[in-house]
Amino acid sequence: MTDKLIIFDTTLRDGEQSPGASMTRDEKLRIARQLERLRVDVIEAGFAASSEGDFLAVKAIADAITESTVCSLSRANDRDISRAAEALKGAKNARIHTFIATSALHMEKKLRMTPDQVFEQAKQSVRFARNLVADVEFSPEDGYRSDVDFLCRILEAVIKEGATTINVPDTVGYAVPELYGNFIKTLRERIPNSDKAIWSVHCHNDLGMAVANSLAGVQIGGARQVECTINGLGERAGNCSLEEIVMAVKTRKDYFGLTLGIETQHILAASRMVSQTTGFVVQPNKAVVGANAFAHASGIHQDGVLKARDTYEIMRAEDVGWSANKIVLGKLSGRNAFKQRLQDLGVELESEAETNAAFTRFKELADRKSDIFDEDILALVSEESVSHEGDVFGFVKLSQHSETGERPHAAIVFTDNGKEISCDSDGNGPVDASLKAIEKHVKSGAEMVLYSVNAISGSTESQGEVTVRLQNNGRIVNGVGSDPDIVVASAKAYLSALNKLQSKAERVMAQG
Ligand code: KIV
Ligand code: ZN
Repeated sequence: MTDKLIIFDTTLRDGEQSPGASMTRDEKLRIARQLERLRVDVIEAGFAASSEGDFLAVKAIADAITESTVCSLSRANDRDISRAAEALKGAKNARIHTFIATSALHMEKKLRMTPDQVFEQAKQSVRFARNLVADVEFSPEDGYRSDVDFLCRILEAVIKEGATTINVPDTVGYAVPELYGNFIKTLRERIPNSDKAIWSVHCHNDLGMAVANSLAGVQIGGARQVECTINGLGERAGNCSLEEIVMAVKTRKDYFGLTLGIETQHILAASRMVSQTTGFVVQPNKAVVGANAFAHASGIHQDGVLKARDTYEIMRAEDVGWSANKIVLGKLSGRNAFKQRLQDLGVELESEAETNAAFTRFKELADRKSDIFDEDILALVSEESVSHEGDVFGFVKLSQHSETGERPHAAIVFTDNGKEISCDSDGNGPVDASLKAIEKHVKSGAEMVLYSVNAISGSTESQGEVTVRLQNNGRIVNGVGSDPDIVVASAKAYLSALNKLQSKAERVMAQG
């Protein structure tokens, strides 16, 4: 057994299944490039057969990425598998990940198939996929709640058909660490040809144990691939978080004894990019990437850290991309300093034009805000990536008035297909007035299901980062906006969500 732990990132597939987290092709490509920079071993780029958009996103990623293996999910049928193979044609290293549910509950109620039918379909699909690519992963969906004898039978058969990776999902997050670890161990011990495949873990976080379960699958079960997402993004309570699993294995190398290919200094930039793109905010006390992860608030801890860092720090903030010196740039900083800072943060912009646009935005921000922190730079670079050429609406300017005892009023100018629109409204507060002013013209009728404001760098001088989640006709989208003025940030976030509602992304759900 090797001591290398394969990191399989599924932010762009399982992560994207979170309501409102859907991403455009360009956004996915940008995140894929960041994952490649991180040296993720496998990038699950999407589910090619689910929609034309997903097909094109997988294809774009397959054509662009050279260092990581690019993978597409596919249900266990010839059409899905052919679509995946087609999308992956340009990949230097391609993998097809095919799956079918194997628990009694899923087979009977969801698939309406007998175990024998599932067995045959799994075998045939792996055989079909192996004729198209050399690297085939098979997952028995809801594997952890499946009958172990049936699972042994089906997994032995798909390995015989050539599956190179066997992934055992805890689809509903029901496992506990010791039991899950032993489950993987039992499968590996009982299946005669188990050594012909790499074993993989895929844990959901419904009981908050996805990382612990994955680590048990590795340590007790002998799995050598972990499936995970940036920030633990994913449906319901999410997936196993990449930053946590990676830093656990790295920090406790003494215990796990495993090597990783990950360049951890790019973790924070990846986290910011995913949160800004999807609108899923990272909680401040989130391990590794939360704003407080390396902040020592109590006097005793600060004193200890100043005397010797390892009194209270088990990892170095710099190792995951936080800079030691937090005030970085200001109004007088030039283009070279800005570019250098981007490089230090692990951010590579695609073109000179993008760097110029980001620098212009940096200068605008520096005119309004004296100290520019790393978080500001990451936010502005990410925001650059979330405004698109095809956007219907764009923010221009806003003024608002609020006074104790008076009803707040806002006047906003924004573009609709390039034409400037001016609207005004009153509201319960300045944010409410601004969004009502936009609605006066747009009349989306969407319901707001979430509104959240987050101070990017923690003080009142900070930029506010606003997430707005809208629901309309069964679709849920997130919009994000940042600005030192939180009313402006809110208007930007609202317009960004409206832009997403305009795009007609229809897709088949993989596990529907
Ligand atoms: O959770 C799950 O079962 C999955 C499979 C499709 C691998 O995401
Ligand atoms: Zn999953």
